Amino acid sequence: MKFDTPATGNAIDRLTIIGHPVDRIDGPLKTSGRAPYAYEHHAAVPNPAYGVILGAAIATGRIRSIDTAAAEAAPGVLAVITYENAGKIAQPKGPPLALLAGPRVSSYDQAVALVVAESFEEARAATRLIRIDYAREQGRYDLAAEKDAAVMPPSIFGGESDTAVGDFDAAFAAAPVRFDQQYSTPDHSHVMMEPHASLALWEGEALTLWTSSQMIAGARRAMAMLLGLDPQNVRILSPYIGGGFGAKLGVRADALLAAVGARAVGRPVKVALTRPQSINNTTHRPATLQRIRIGATADGRITAIGHEGWSGNLPGGSAEAAVQQTRYLYAGADRMTTTRLAVLDLPEGGAMRAPGEAPGMMALEIAMDEMAERLGLDPIAFRILNDTQVDPENPERPYSLRQLTRCFEEGAAAFGWDRRRAPGAVRDGRWLVGMGVAAAFRNNVPMKSAARVVLNRDGRVTVMTDMTDIGTGSYTIIAQTVAEAMGVPLDSVEVLLGDSRFPVSAGSGGQWGAHNATSGVFAACMKLREDVALKLGFNSAETVFEDGMVRAGNRHVPLAQAAAEGDLTVDDAIEYGDLDKRYQQSTFGAHFVEAAVDAATGEVRVRRMLAVCAAGRILNPKTARSQVIGAMVMGVGAALMEELVVDRRFGFFVNHDLAGYEVPVHADIPHQEVIFLDEVDPISSPMKAKGVGELGICGVGAAVANAIYNACGVRVRDYPITLDKLIGGLPAV
Ligand code: MOS
Repeated sequence: MKFDTPATGNAIDRLTIIGHPVDRIDGPLKTSGRAPYAYEHHAAVPNPAYGVILGAAIATGRIRSIDTAAAEAAPGVLAVITYENAGKIAQPKGPPLALLAGPRVSSYDQAVALVVAESFEEARAATRLIRIDYAREQGRYDLAAEKDAAVMPPSIFGGESDTAVGDFDAAFAAAPVRFDQQYSTPDHSHVMMEPHASLALWEGEALTLWTSSQMIAGARRAMAMLLGLDPQNVRILSPYIGGGFGAKLGVRADALLAAVGARAVGRPVKVALTRPQSINNTTHRPATLQRIRIGATADGRITAIGHEGWSGNLPGGSAEAAVQQTRYLYAGADRMTTTRLAVLDLPEGGAMRAPGEAPGMMALEIAMDEMAERLGLDPIAFRILNDTQVDPENPERPYSLRQLTRCFEEGAAAFGWDRRRAPGAVRDGRWLVGMGVAAAFRNNVPMKSAARVVLNRDGRVTVMTDMTDIGTGSYTIIAQTVAEAMGVPLDSVEVLLGDSRFPVSAGSGGQWGAHNATSGVFAACMKLREDVALKLGFNSAETVFEDGMVRAGNRHVPLAQAAAEGDLTVDDAIEYGDLDKRYQQSTFGAHFVEAAVDAATGEVRVRRMLAVCAAGRILNPKTARSQVIGAMVMGVGAALMEELVVDRRFGFFVNHDLAGYEVPVHADIPHQEVIFLDEVDPISSPMKAKGVGELGICGVGAAVANAIYNACGVRVRDYPITLDKLIGGLPAV
């Protein structure tokens, strides 16, 4: 199905199942422990050997020699794999960068060996017996020190590295009110629940890999490329995934070395990364330095806005696109953004939880709060004053739908924004209490997505697509889509996901999963309806599918009858035209936070949170709400706790476990509310839906920072906002 004109009325608009808060259909499997994760496919592969990875003890340098003799002789050991005996592995130039070190070591904890043994314990014990002589070199580990050497990256995810409209410098210099400030965000780790894990099985030249992957087709291409295989000989399976947050967009060392190890020992091998390895051995969200300049008229209209961002990565790695939202979010005739990338020899930087906008909004939305104060405006009024209904860099491009102002207005009313007072003015015992707000913004990404649907003689419909469910609810919303489109009850639908034998979907990432995957399924269902109508002798234009029946005029036939002589199987895909070129497609929201700061210690407690989201049709308010609530929690983590601490001498992340890398727990999170505006966006997709998951994180950190400022009058521009950054500025008691 080609989607190149805005959607008109269709079967989804009936909203008998779509738009309802349906429980997760995979819930019982998950809660009873019967959903197998990558390390757990005992039924499919009964007797695997165990692989344990040994990571490099240096960040930068060379392996002079590896002595594996003692490890090979250890009890239970079947093989020790290093670069010297691994066979040919292609070295990619871009991410993922080299997954097996040797002789070069490019980052700390990069895999240098895999021990394969009869048991996990034997493999782990033998890794301790490997002797490696390293020639350590001094690498570059400090973003601030490398900032001036940073260069324009070839491209960044989602667009250009630099943009300019008009003459920013002149407009900024001439602006009656000027603001110029710097911000920083630290390196972050995904810390999803399920670590990276893979189980590899070879049958001749054919590799089957159960792995925890957000993107099945990408994993298949990557494994084929790394091992020099025909992609037809690689099967990827990832039916259940315990979170990804971007860490599992690409394959990592567990996948590669499980395959290499299994080939070496002639037996299936499974490999999981430990929690410390998942922090230094894989990817992380790169730290950013940001500078924001805003010029405005005295009455608060932005005339000039500039955002510069710096991040670092290994050679060939990508830049963090922290300036992304500043190209779109607010009006202003003269504008500029730049993205600069420094070479750092830290572990590879990659996509994490709304890459670009998440750290970018953490800076921009503090800057907007600061500028509003300088102008003597309410921060919501300032933002509404500078709303735009067109892409400000390309004013001929309207937004497909932009209801940011409504998000602020409805949120202000629901949250009690009128009770906000001046900084430091509200006390509750020992607590200083304040409110903060920030916009939420994240782009909507249309992406081709295919599916197969099969109708059987019992009237049941099976849908197959290589889409993944990383904990988001894909199984459920895809089942709802089929049920709505085919007019069958939810329990007549079977959803099969996460297998590279199925048609290629958009996969899970960048909040593009839900609307694209369901649109692909919708396309296949519409084609199936045509086949059914043809089979049953209906004129398809008038045919209605509901209650398991096919009806037209006064004729009605059970849907199942169309498959009486055999299953009806169709494949189709959603393919987009240029609607995303003609219209800027984004999702919007407003985040409200009430925070309390201990007047003596600077301890911060978030007291209330509200997100108002405008993200097109909400396919399932329960799964969408869970997405946004989880994202808000991540925003609190980024605001107050999350920070990978860089050892600038030896080039690694020091706090590589869940004791040292802090994320919010239940006690840190107050009551949260989510309001979805009741909107449909017919320009986005036939489902009229857009992404929503990552919208929930973008802006939260700044809303927390702004609430802290309103509570105690201390402005922190370097995340995370820990009490040591507040205590010196607290008002005298
Ligand atoms: Mo997302 S960080 O693009 O999985």
